[in-house]
Amino acid sequence: MSELRVTAIASLHAEFSVPGDKSISHRAAIFSGLANGLCSIRNFLPSEDCINTLNAMQALGARYEVLEELSGYGPNQLVIHGRSMQLSAPTTPIDCGNSGTGMRLLAGLLAGQSFDSELFGDASLSSRPMGRVTNPLGQMGARIETRGAKPGCAPLFIHGSALTPITYQMPVASAQVKSAVLLAGMFAKGTTTVIQPAETRDHTERMLAAFGIATHQDGQAISIDGGQMPQACEFSVPGDISSAAFWLVAAAALPGSRLLLKDVGLNPTRTAILKVLGRMGAHMIETNQHATGEPVGNVEIHGAPLTGTTLLAEEIPNLIDEIPVLAVAAALASGRTLIRNARELRVKETDRITTVVNNLRAMGAEVIEFDDGMEIQGGHPLHAAEIDSFGDHRIAMAFAIAGLFAEGETIIRNTECVNTSYPGFAHHLQAILEQRSTPDAFTLPTHSHL
Ligand code: S3P
Repeated sequence: MSELRVTAIASLHAEFSVPGDKSISHRAAIFSGLANGLCSIRNFLPSEDCINTLNAMQALGARYEVLEELSGYGPNQLVIHGRSMQLSAPTTPIDCGNSGTGMRLLAGLLAGQSFDSELFGDASLSSRPMGRVTNPLGQMGARIETRGAKPGCAPLFIHGSALTPITYQMPVASAQVKSAVLLAGMFAKGTTTVIQPAETRDHTERMLAAFGIATHQDGQAISIDGGQMPQACEFSVPGDISSAAFWLVAAAALPGSRLLLKDVGLNPTRTAILKVLGRMGAHMIETNQHATGEPVGNVEIHGAPLTGTTLLAEEIPNLIDEIPVLAVAAALASGRTLIRNARELRVKETDRITTVVNNLRAMGAEVIEFDDGMEIQGGHPLHAAEIDSFGDHRIAMAFAIAGLFAEGETIIRNTECVNTSYPGFAHHLQAILEQRSTPDAFTLPTHSHL
């Protein structure tokens, strides 16, 4: 079982890029597999989660070829042979690993096929709620059995059916649910509409547009007409702001530091983390902004003494994955930080309210746990501890960042899970611990297949 060992740093001066965005990479694999020809994807995230989705599409007939790989991980440049919306039946059950995004989006895709399929995942994924996708897909006419030991959970047995369009009011603000319904809507006859209770990440809508598929947005209602053909295209995945968040917090909380992260995705449905760190006192400059479907730019951040803040209800879906590391920032800030309206954290890869609260307390922070969040009284010095990730990648990485500010050597146990979203995290952490500042120190080795 692998571990990370972290000690305090005195300064942070660095420039580098984080790997590709996880949400966008999943979608790039799925929509390329449906397109009417050869699609090329640059800066694909070769994490276990996204490779599982790539292999799922291959099992459905959409072959891929690797042009370049991140050594030791998997493809980061590839071409996918799209199937013009004609998938083939998989011969074995499809493994979604640890990924809620992979399983929920694929459930939407598979609901309207003319064949049966099965999706399964690891112990964590098999305990996460799938009713949020099987309910709307069931209303569209799909027959999906949740055969997990826990009611409403994976494995999913999907009996592909002809789908009828629905208008679906989502009970939770979830981009995964929205995307599953829109994917199913591509195979339904007529107009499918999904209404979100609050804005959620819009990568699916943007990627549908990049593939030439029309959607219509009216307030929080998004509609799609079935029967459209995705047009093959080239796609470049920006750096993942959720991975960038770990280093942004480290730099923000260390007065005198300067960090430049290049080519980060700056989609406004994902950038609340920047607003919150700014509110806490960090100084930030966004440069080189451009958009090719997804907004991208460089983020330069300068550390400062941070003060606590209150996360706004409407910010929560926009930074849900960054809350573990924001909680670490809050422990390092002076004053109180309040995080409420975040009950969804309890059904992520772990119950992230409990895992964050327990790990922060183990390092000396003062935290009150609520059903839907936590209150952190910052400013107590952190001390080293042995921290369990509980198999959750974002918990492992958030507490590696806490270790950079703690007295003594923090040991994070059970860190293989980091590869589900951030291949190369340990390499970047090592460069920061050794206070190397050149971009070379952060470059992850690649291998070309051309
Ligand atoms: C994701 C949506 C979010 C997020 C997850 C990725 C996506 O989940 O937490 O890591 O790619 O659509 P929900 O849809 O459950 O909010």
